[in-house]
Amino acid sequence: MKGLSILGSTGSIGTNVLRVVDAFPGRFEVVGLAAGGNAEVLAEQVARHRPRIVSAGDAAALEQLSRLVDLSGVRAVVGREGMVEVATRDEARMVVASAVGAVGLVPTYRALEAGKDVALANKETLVMAGELMLARARETGARLLPIDSEHCALHECLDGRRPEDVRRLILTASGGPFRDRPRESLARVTREEALAHPTWRMGPKITIDSATLMNKGLEVIEAHWLFGMPAAKIDVLVHPQSVVHSMVELVDGTVLAQLGVTDMRMPIQYALTYPEKWEAAIPGLDFSKAMRLDFAPPDRSKFPCLSLAYRALEKGGTAPAALNAANEEAVAAFLDGRAPFLAIPESIEEVLDAEPEAGAATLEDVLEADRRARERARRALARRAPAPVTH
Ligand SMILES: NC(=O)c1ccc[n+]([C@@H]2O[C@H](COP(=O)([O-])OP(=O)(O)OC[C@H]3O[C@@H](n4cnc5c(N)ncnc54)[C@H](OP(=O)(O)O)[C@@H]3O)[C@@H](O)[C@H]2O)c1
Repeated sequence: MKGLSILGSTGSIGTNVLRVVDAFPGRFEVVGLAAGGNAEVLAEQVARHRPRIVSAGDAAALEQLSRLVDLSGVRAVVGREGMVEVATRDEARMVVASAVGAVGLVPTYRALEAGKDVALANKETLVMAGELMLARARETGARLLPIDSEHCALHECLDGRRPEDVRRLILTASGGPFRDRPRESLARVTREEALAHPTWRMGPKITIDSATLMNKGLEVIEAHWLFGMPAAKIDVLVHPQSVVHSMVELVDGTVLAQLGVTDMRMPIQYALTYPEKWEAAIPGLDFSKAMRLDFAPPDRSKFPCLSLAYRALEKGGTAPAALNAANEEAVAAFLDGRAPFLAIPESIEEVLDAEPEAGAATLEDVLEADRRARERARRALARRAPAPVTH
């Protein structure tokens, strides 16, 4: 039995991880679960999987959890320290990093430091501190396996290939809900429109990131760290059908692609079982019907977040951490109605311009850059807040 600790178990990825676990009785042991405030779902998961340790977001969430489920025999902890304990628990051989945003950084880092294999959905952590995380993985021999469907595709196409044989990585993007909308209309998009992703059902933060194309920008940085490729060798193509999950072009012009249905259980299972392949109840693609595969370059002037991510990667040091922090603040403000859609790229650009050239040699450097960028982002967003409605 492979021991798993799951960070962000109540989210869209976390619940799909547990569906994969349920599909293979006797193959995985759920050692630890960590979540934020969703005590109802966490209680159901604790009742079903009886982990050795559970972490809730804060004391109030833990109090609610303890009223909903019997916690006898389960160590119950809270907050970031609790998540670190879940991530470093001895019995866990693999940690699934599926919390959203910077909150996952320290626990995921500590898991690699403790030599745990990490199945990574929480791309923000690698964007913030890729160099440090890779260094810890190299030291301890921990494996970092992607859950993001694009990186899972790249990982599979690159398996066994020499880096010098690769001309470029091509990340595919659905293009999000505003792919065909004129640029001028983006000033007026609503929360509901931005949350209506055409091909994937995901948590709210990544759904907004898909609408701005920042998700693809974060993925470019993620691919840089995971596969050791420079930004100049990582391209993005809009592919509205989301059938080709990503591609690798080799130096002789051959293009390798991984295709599949849009079901996150597939890349999750890939990471959980790598290098093995287990028979799954996930359907293959239906080629009995006519199918189109379209590809087009992204409109970078309409979606400036993509270029901002490339800029942060090229600037290096703490710039990607600043980009990520500014984006998290901007997305939260947009979702709360405190900022219009176009304030997202504008405020991120302002934060990135102001970020000093600084190295990211320690976790503290990264966390300091995160704090600095959030303060700047809040000021930039406050200046762009929509005018109050008067009657
Ligand atoms: N969804 C996808 O299909 C998909 C695909 C590729 C990559 N990803 C990446 O996977 C990550 C998770 O995405 P998601 O769509 O699953 O997000 P989600 O549905 O919003 O779930 C986020 C998870 O993080 C937990 N969390 C949030 N704040 C927390 C805190 N302060 N302390 C502890 N836990 C906290 C949430 O707990 P509560 O709900 O209990 O508060 C929840 O379990 C993101 O980095 C995303 O970019 C997602």
